[in-house]
Amino acid sequence: MGRWFPTLPGIPDRPALSPQLYYTGALILLDVHLTSEEERVLAGEEGHGRQKAMELLVALGDIYGAERLIPIASAQVSGASFKTIGEAGLQFLEDFSQEAKVTVRSSLNPLGLDLVRWKEMGVDEKFHERQARIVSAYKSLGVEPLYTCTPYLSGNRPRKGQHLAWAESSATVFANSVLGAMTNREGGPSALAAGIIGKTAEYGLHLKVNRKPRVRVDLEGLPKGMAPMAGYLVGRLAGNRIPYVTGLEVGPDGHKSFGAAMAASGAVSMYTYSGQTRKPDLSSIEETISLPLSELRECEQSLAGGDDWDLVAIGCPHCSPAELRRIASRLKDRKPSGKCDAWFCTSRKAYASCPREVAVLKKFGKVLCDTCMVVAPIESLYSKTASDSGKAMVYLPTLGKQRASFRTTDALLEAISR
Ligand code: F3S
Repeated sequence: MGRWFPTLPGIPDRPALSPQLYYTGALILLDVHLTSEEERVLAGEEGHGRQKAMELLVALGDIYGAERLIPIASAQVSGASFKTIGEAGLQFLEDFSQEAKVTVRSSLNPLGLDLVRWKEMGVDEKFHERQARIVSAYKSLGVEPLYTCTPYLSGNRPRKGQHLAWAESSATVFANSVLGAMTNREGGPSALAAGIIGKTAEYGLHLKVNRKPRVRVDLEGLPKGMAPMAGYLVGRLAGNRIPYVTGLEVGPDGHKSFGAAMAASGAVSMYTYSGQTRKPDLSSIEETISLPLSELRECEQSLAGGDDWDLVAIGCPHCSPAELRRIASRLKDRKPSGKCDAWFCTSRKAYASCPREVAVLKKFGKVLCDTCMVVAPIESLYSKTASDSGKAMVYLPTLGKQRASFRTTDALLEAISR
């Protein structure tokens, strides 16, 4: 999931068309230089919707000192669940969808329910009605209905060096760190605005100079299944600095869960790591932190919660086809323990590509698409949830009002089967 409303300090009206400096309190703002075509959009000559989108991009560019707007290959829009955007967000989308359309590939984050199995989930009619209106507004805006936080596994996979405007924090960190694309962590409206204009302001992680690691974190002997916990800790230790991580010997799914946890517990949307094809520039490293196994275990202990769970939730970020296969092969010769409910959250594309595995998982719980344990109204269904996700440990207690318990995937599968 990502932020919906970006944090914008008081922004004055754009006072002139040429670049200039002006002051607002402690802020020094430098105008983004716009091309004549961009100026026309800003002046409203291409309609009110495009004008509003351009105003938002220019405001962000002014605040962060961008010199220009740059084309993007795609946008990933967050703010898709009625639970997270509420009536105000729904109203905004319905109004905006009357006057604008995206002009580059733009895909959408998870919704608050599975569009097919929402009744089985226990979601009520009112929530469903509001969610359906959000879906319809995004369709009018031209946003692709992927409803996943792993768009890079569902067809929207950027290439190295491409500029993006992605709002989903777990996808942003994966795109920057593993795929080598370049994106800031956008808010929902700014990603949508970038999708409409097809551009974003060039600042932050769009500039190579800002992509250098400043802190080295040495992970020692990371055990299987602990990448999410390691990400959770590294995010806290790194603060707003890009980390260079050693000892992270995991595949793409390990990076997916590591980065998601790191971006949720910390303020950075990128990490570099040993073993990358091109060694990162380490000239800006200012501190080295060693993270022994004992600290990971301590952190795991602090997030253990209790053992009496209403729900086991796997799939944050959404399970990849490889993860569905791994889970199914662990469960296929076992029976449900009946101790608690289980949710396996995944994308529609991964679900469709693994029918046999999905059939196995369905004996143990619900295989949900389009949604997840954080953006669904879980608080009206359960109160004690266990998950293998470091990111979920950040959001389940807050957004989900759950007593959250961290366990490795293997431990969760053991608990729901016999
Ligand atoms: Fe995805 Fe939901 Fe987790 S959007 S990253 S499964 S909180």
